[in-house]
Amino acid sequence: MINVTIFDHPLIQHKLSIMRQKETSSKDFRALVSEIAMLMCFEATRDLPLEDVEIETPICKTTVKHLAGKKLAIVPILRAGLGMVDGILTLIPSARVGHIGMYRDENTHQPVEYFCKLPKDIEDRDVFLVDPMLATGGSAIDAVKQLKKRNPRSIRFLCLIAAPEGIEAFTAACPDVPVYCAALDEKLNENAYIVPGLGDAGDRIFGTK
Ligand code: PRP
Ligand code: URA
Repeated sequence: MINVTIFDHPLIQHKLSIMRQKETSSKDFRALVSEIAMLMCFEATRDLPLEDVEIETPICKTTVKHLAGKKLAIVPILRAGLGMVDGILTLIPSARVGHIGMYRDENTHQPVEYFCKLPKDIEDRDVFLVDPMLATGGSAIDAVKQLKKRNPRSIRFLCLIAAPEGIEAFTAACPDVPVYCAALDEKLNENAYIVPGLGDAGDRIFGTK
């Protein structure tokens, strides 16, 4: 699949398996979303450019590598995407955070946008758009449309679980946006929930059901 990376690291797979279990508490679920987001960020930042910097150790002068002044922004799709922010900020504490609020209409399964607040200088930033679930793809596709109106330097999309239907729709609509996910599940059910999935990510993170 072009532009889709599935992380099969054993730690990610193990943590995701615990999240899927219906008896996992909100407290554990929240901690696991955050940990997986951190591990995925570690992998998804492999291609960040480095530059040479002259420093002095206690022993001698030397040339070392620093991140090449990259400006990053994390943009969670509310609500569930919020669960991924802290894990990524642990690795990239200077990243700015924008928010796009979106919910799926229960009957049509179409995304409805209700909030959008992005960093002022987003045109100078590489954006990590994050949401644990890519189901029909509608929410992520709309979020990318919102982001592109503000012309960020680049966009990549990180999710935990993707459905084949969502991957197909997303890669067709946004072929220039790389997708990173921890699992590609079987299918969507009649309510557009991912099977086997993990249920409603937002409700499980925030304990609202
Ligand atoms: C969930 C999830 C995604 C969306 C995915 O959010 O967090 O944003 O559904 O579905 P899609 O790919 O079919 O658009 P939800 O609408 O349940 O809102 P919430 O995060 O506020 O619970
Ligand atoms: N949103 C979720 O939270 N879970 C799904 O399985 C599909 C959409």
